Amino acid sequence: MIGAMSRRLTLDDGQIARLHQAALGLLDVAALPPADVYLDAEGNEIAHLADGQVQLRRPSPWPAPAAVRTDAPVVVAVPDALPVGALPTADAVLLLPTGGVRPDDARFVTWAHAWRATAPTVVEIPFTPYDAADRVDEVAAAYSSAGRVDVATVEQPGCGGLVVFFTGLSGSGKSTVARALVGRLAEQRTVTLLDGDVVRTHLSRGLGFSREDRDTNIRRIGWVAAEVAKHGGIAVCAPIAPYAETRQWVRRTVEAAAGAGSFVLVWVSTPLEVCEARDVKGLYARARAGEIQGFTGIDDPYEAPDDADVVVDTSAMSVEDAVRVVVGTIPTNASDSSPA
Ligand code: ADX
Repeated sequence: MIGAMSRRLTLDDGQIARLHQAALGLLDVAALPPADVYLDAEGNEIAHLADGQVQLRRPSPWPAPAAVRTDAPVVVAVPDALPVGALPTADAVLLLPTGGVRPDDARFVTWAHAWRATAPTVVEIPFTPYDAADRVDEVAAAYSSAGRVDVATVEQPGCGGLVVFFTGLSGSGKSTVARALVGRLAEQRTVTLLDGDVVRTHLSRGLGFSREDRDTNIRRIGWVAAEVAKHGGIAVCAPIAPYAETRQWVRRTVEAAAGAGSFVLVWVSTPLEVCEARDVKGLYARARAGEIQGFTGIDDPYEAPDDADVVVDTSAMSVEDAVRVVVGTIPTNASDSSPA
C-alpha cells in the first residue's frame, strides 16, 4: 500500500522514458529521481516503487472514442518504426505515441508534421516507445474496427531513396561505371558509393571469399544501402555479388525500406575473356596459376542475373554510354537526375 505520506513526483516525458527503462531492467532504479509514486503531467499515477522495483500501473482499458472510431486500419507510428518515406496515403488512423519523445526532438517534429500532412486522422497517444509494444493492440482495437496493420504492409509511396546495385565479374567495369554514375547523380543529390574493394577494407574487413563470407559482405552492403535509401538518399553499390539469392535478399530489403522501384539491379555483363584479358589487378593470372583459390569466374561460381533491370557490357559500349543507359532506367520519382 502507498501511504498518505508517500513522496509523489510528476515526471516529464524524458523521465517517463527512463522510468520505463528502469521497469524493464535497462536502467538502475537509483538513476530515477527519488519518489514513492510517479505521476504524469496530467496527475495520473503511472508507477510506484515497491521493494526498490518500479511497478508500472497498468492503464485502464482504452475507451472507444466514438468520434475517432473508424473502419480504417490503424497504423501505430512508434518512433523509429515509421520513416517519413513510408507514410501511408490511404485511409488510416495514425496513433502517434508522444510520451517519451521530447516535443522538440527533430525526428518528432518532422514526423508529426509529415503524419498530419498525409494521414486522414492522427491521434496522439501518450505512451512511450518502451511500452508501445504491449499496448498497441489494445489501443488499436479501441480506435478502429479494422484492427492494426503492420507498417510494412502499408502501401509505401516511396521516399525518393534509391539503390543502384551493380553486379558482375572482377574487372567487368562495375567500379568504373559506378563511379561515373555517382559523378552524374551527385550533380543533384548526395550519393553514397559502396564499392566492393573499398567495403572490404572497412565494413567487411577480415571477410574472405567463401560463400558464407561473400553473403555476409553483400548483406552488409545491402543493409547499409537500404538505410541510406530509407532516409531518401542514393546508394550506389559495386560488389561482384555472385549469388542470385543474396542479390534478391538485397532487393527485398531495400524495397521494404524505401518502397517499390527503389532498387535497380545493373548487370555488368562484360565477358570473362575480356575481364581476364584486362586483368587490371593481376588476380586472374594468379588464379589460373593456382595461387588464388575460389576466384569468381575461374573456379568459383558467378550466377548471371535473370532479374537485372538493366544490362551493360563495357566491352561493347563506352563508360559514358553505360552511365546513360543506367540513368535511363532510374525511376523518375527516385531521382531528380533525368537524362539530359
Ligand atoms: S563479393 O563476392 O563478396 O561480392 P567483392 O566485390 O566484395 O566480392 O570483392 C571482389 C574483389 O576482391 C575482386 O575485384 C578482387 O579484387 C578481390 N578478390 C580477391 N580474391 C577474390 C576471389 N577469390 N574471388 C573474387 N574476387 C577476389
